[in-house]
Amino acid sequence: MDQSSKFWDRIAERYSKQPIADEAAYQKKLQVTREYFQPDMKVLEFGCGTGSTAIAHAPYVKHIHAIDISSKMIEIAQAKADAINVENVTFEQASIEEISASDQTLDAVLGLSILHLVENKEQVIAKVYKMLKPGGLFVTSTACIGDTMKSFKVIVPIAKFLGLMPLVKVFTTKELEDSLTDAGFVIDYQWQPGKGKAVFVVAKKAE
Ligand SMILES: C[S@@+](CC[C@H](N)C(=O)[O-])C[C@H]1O[C@@H](n2cnc3c(N)ncnc32)[C@H](O)[C@@H]1O
Repeated sequence: MDQSSKFWDRIAERYSKQPIADEAAYQKKLQVTREYFQPDMKVLEFGCGTGSTAIAHAPYVKHIHAIDISSKMIEIAQAKADAINVENVTFEQASIEEISASDQTLDAVLGLSILHLVENKEQVIAKVYKMLKPGGLFVTSTACIGDTMKSFKVIVPIAKFLGLMPLVKVFTTKELEDSLTDAGFVIDYQWQPGKGKAVFVVAKKAE
């Protein structure tokens, strides 16, 4: 078990009880995502946490494979799905770096509040791009901490060392946009609910 999964295991129970920070923004992101969904779609969600978003989207697509590095998060997500008999979501403890998925097999990939938490976002974005079918969608909501708090670059490694924070990468919205377009994506929709809030993007792989 690496340090990152230990951190998320430790806070999973608390995380599952926390209210959503901005309910209106969350609902809008769900709604926008659904406008892109089709009932026959195969979807991967990585960093699914306690599964609420995968469960909310389940009625609108064929299948969601929802993964998270934390076994505790997956345990909670599975219990939620079982409680309401959700049958088209498969939860699995796995990291996005290690998961193997065949090229061009997915219609959509969701990565919500996660791209700033991976060691190498460019590698993850390239992997997502490969897994998507032509015309496939990458839906992501990302804290671009570099826009507002450059000092975080110094604070984060110290807090991580002390076990107070998980791995957090500091980059700007522009750097996120560049990472997506450099990988070949076209940004189809972009919205930020307010200054300092996560940047929501729907990016498309060319047809
Ligand atoms: C901030 S939470 C976001 C959870 C959920 N997506 C949400 O929006 O509420 C980040 C989640 O990503 C998971 N995670 C962190 N690194 C990961 C990785 N490399 N692969 C898969 N999951 C990861 C953590 O365990 C945690 O549950």
